[in-house]
Amino acid sequence: MKANKAVFSFLLLGGLLLSCSPKRKSLSIFAYAQDDTYILSLFDSLRGDLKDYDCSFFYADRDQNAQNRDIIRQIENGADAVLVNLVDRLAASAIVEKAYLSDVPCIFLNRKPLEGDLDPQDGDEYASWVKQNCFYVGSYPSYEGEAQADIAHAFFSYFGGFASSRFDKNGDGAIQVCMLKGEQGHQDAEERTLSSLSRLEELGYRVELLYSFSCDWERSVAEEKTSSISLDGVELVLSNNDDMALGMLDHLKSVRQTGRPIYDEFFPIIGVDGTAEGEQAVKSSEMIGTVKNDNAAQSSCAAKLIRHLLDGGDMPIETEGLLKQGNYYYSEGEAIKSPFFSAFLPLAK
Ligand code: GAL
Repeated sequence: MKANKAVFSFLLLGGLLLSCSPKRKSLSIFAYAQDDTYILSLFDSLRGDLKDYDCSFFYADRDQNAQNRDIIRQIENGADAVLVNLVDRLAASAIVEKAYLSDVPCIFLNRKPLEGDLDPQDGDEYASWVKQNCFYVGSYPSYEGEAQADIAHAFFSYFGGFASSRFDKNGDGAIQVCMLKGEQGHQDAEERTLSSLSRLEELGYRVELLYSFSCDWERSVAEEKTSSISLDGVELVLSNNDDMALGMLDHLKSVRQTGRPIYDEFFPIIGVDGTAEGEQAVKSSEMIGTVKNDNAAQSSCAAKLIRHLLDGGDMPIETEGLLKQGNYYYSEGEAIKSPFFSAFLPLAK
C-alpha cells in the first residue's frame, strides 16, 4: 500500500512538472512531392535543425490545391509558423495573404516566389508585415550553371583542350550539348540552363544546343527521353540535377559496349545537387562532376529564420556562401569534380 502511494505521488509530481513546462512551438512544413531526392535530403536536414519545435510534415503530391488546403487547415489549427516548398511558385501570394490574416510567419523553400511577393512596395501595414515575416531560402542557380561550365572547362583542359580532341567527335570545333532540364518555369531549371551555356561561351567555346529535354527533375523521365536519341552526335551533357543525369546514365549503361569510362565511350556528363548517388557517380567517374545544392546550409538558414521569428534570435546574415537580397537568401554550394582531374583548375580565358 505504501509503495502504491509513493508511485502515485511520483506520477502526480511528474504530471505537475510536465504541465508547468513551456509548450513547444509548432511548425507545419509542406513539400511539393514525396519522391524528390533533393527535397527529401533538405527535409532530413530540417528535421535535425528544427528538433526543438513540434514539426508536422505534409506532402502535396504535385497538387497545389491540396497543398493550399493543408496550409489553410494548419494555419487555422494554430501553427506558429509554416515552411512551404510550393508546388507552383505562382501560388505564393495567396499563401502570404492567408498567413498575414492569421499573423503566422511563412518561409518559402526551394521554389521561389516572384520577387514582388515578398517585397511588396505599397508601404502599407500588409507590406511591412510581409517584410518582417516572410522569407525565401533556396539555391543559387546562376552560380550552379556557371560552375557546371567551369567543370567542363577543367575537364577538357585536362585532356589538352576541346577543339580537335577526341571529345570533339565531329571535329567542327563546337560543343554539341544535350541539356536535361528540370520542370518548366522552375527558377533553378531556367537559370542553370542559361548560365551554364553562357559561361561556356564566355570561356571561349562555341556551343550548339543539340537536344533539350524537359524531364521534370525525374530520373525515369530522363532515361526514357534520352533512349530515343542518336548518342553519336552528343559531346557534352549538362543536367539541371543529378537524378536526371543518373537517368541518362541508366540508359547508357544498358547500351554500352566497352569497359571504357562513360565519358570516353560516350561523352562527359555533369549534374547539380550532389545527392548521395550523384556524388557516388562522380567518385567513380561515371559523371565527371556535379555542383552541391547545399541542403544543410539552406536548412540551417531556414532554422535560424524560425528562431528569429518565433524566439527573437538573430537574423541570418550574408556570408561567403550565403547571399541575401532583401528577404531572399541564396546558398552557393560548390563544384565537385571527379577525382582524376579534381586538382586541375585551369584559369578562365
Ligand atoms: C532543385 C533541385 C532538383 C529538385 C527541385 C525541386 O533545386 O536541384 O533536384 O529537387 O529543386 O524543386
